[in-house]
Amino acid sequence: MQVDLNTVDWKTLPFGYYDTDYNVRCYYRNGQWGKIEVTSSKDISIHMAATCLHYGQEGFEGLKAYTGKDGKVRIFRVEENAKRIQNTANRVLMAVPPVELFREMVHTVVKANKRFVPPYGYGATLYIRPLLIGMSPEVGVKPSDEYLLLMFVTPVGPYFKDGFKPVDMMISRNYDRAAPQGTGTVKVGGNYAASLLSLAEAKKLGYSSTIYLDAKEKKYIDECGPANFFGIKGKTFVTPKSESILPSITNKSLQQLAEHLGYKVERRQVPFEELAEFSETAECGTAAVITPIKKIVDPVAGKEFTYGDGVNPGPVCTELFTKYTAIQFGEAPDPFGWTEVV
Ligand code: PLP
Ligand code: COI
Repeated sequence: MQVDLNTVDWKTLPFGYYDTDYNVRCYYRNGQWGKIEVTSSKDISIHMAATCLHYGQEGFEGLKAYTGKDGKVRIFRVEENAKRIQNTANRVLMAVPPVELFREMVHTVVKANKRFVPPYGYGATLYIRPLLIGMSPEVGVKPSDEYLLLMFVTPVGPYFKDGFKPVDMMISRNYDRAAPQGTGTVKVGGNYAASLLSLAEAKKLGYSSTIYLDAKEKKYIDECGPANFFGIKGKTFVTPKSESILPSITNKSLQQLAEHLGYKVERRQVPFEELAEFSETAECGTAAVITPIKKIVDPVAGKEFTYGDGVNPGPVCTELFTKYTAIQFGEAPDPFGWTEVV
């Protein structure tokens, strides 16, 4: 569906796919990256035996463009996403896109679709989805020779439909998302495939999403399906350190911001029982931004943890959310050098 810019209600825009004008592509062939191509085709011509289809040789990224208060369009920490897709590529033996190629493609795709960047004032953004896939036919388990790096964009509202409103989460005890020393620390599609069943079961029971425990001991908090986890204890921001979670750029930025605001930051193992000690908890990520959590239920262990008044976000999440998004939307100075104008 093409987003109808004349009738779209930016305030209620969901987090979903809409057709925009262009996407950009770059092929890796004969050992080198080619020229950036801009196309309006939504289709990819792909061999039926391509390694991405059979052996999951693929990775993706997610970042956003924001229309600022001054009317300028900014992107957030693009270099971090470039470095993370490099880690993903290295982990599943794909061609590694150079940071400058990644950055140029992001700028190109945003400029080409500028009319789809939501206007300032609605909290909506342009989500940028880079995708890297193995294209060559193979039947034995081996890496592809050829790759495609593609980027499309779609205007989005909040990932969880109510935006900056607390959600209920369920602990996933029956399914793991990723194993230590597996692929949890990189952004491959298989991790998300592994999360779909537990997410569907949690949604059926009325929860927004799941929280995974460490796969080895089931003792520590890992992360949420599409976002990292943090908890607040007094003036301390606590977030899990684990061998199976994605290093979130939002989380890294929030840690910097929290320190800047005078909080202590602890990145360490977070035992499940510690959920009882936090005054606030939340998930954080590009799509989720900061989504406060009001209740965490563990149906298998028969435990429940509640936070705040059950309606409103807590004061620390509110402070972090307000200051963080003010930088992204150009309402406040960017002392960390996180944003760049497109
Ligand atoms: N964890 C997982 C599994 C994710 O998919 C994401 C989203 O990219 C995050 C965490 C948050 O990462 P970031 O803040 O870089 O978007
Ligand atoms: C993101 O936050 O960018 C994500 O990738 C989360 C999800 C939509 C997969």
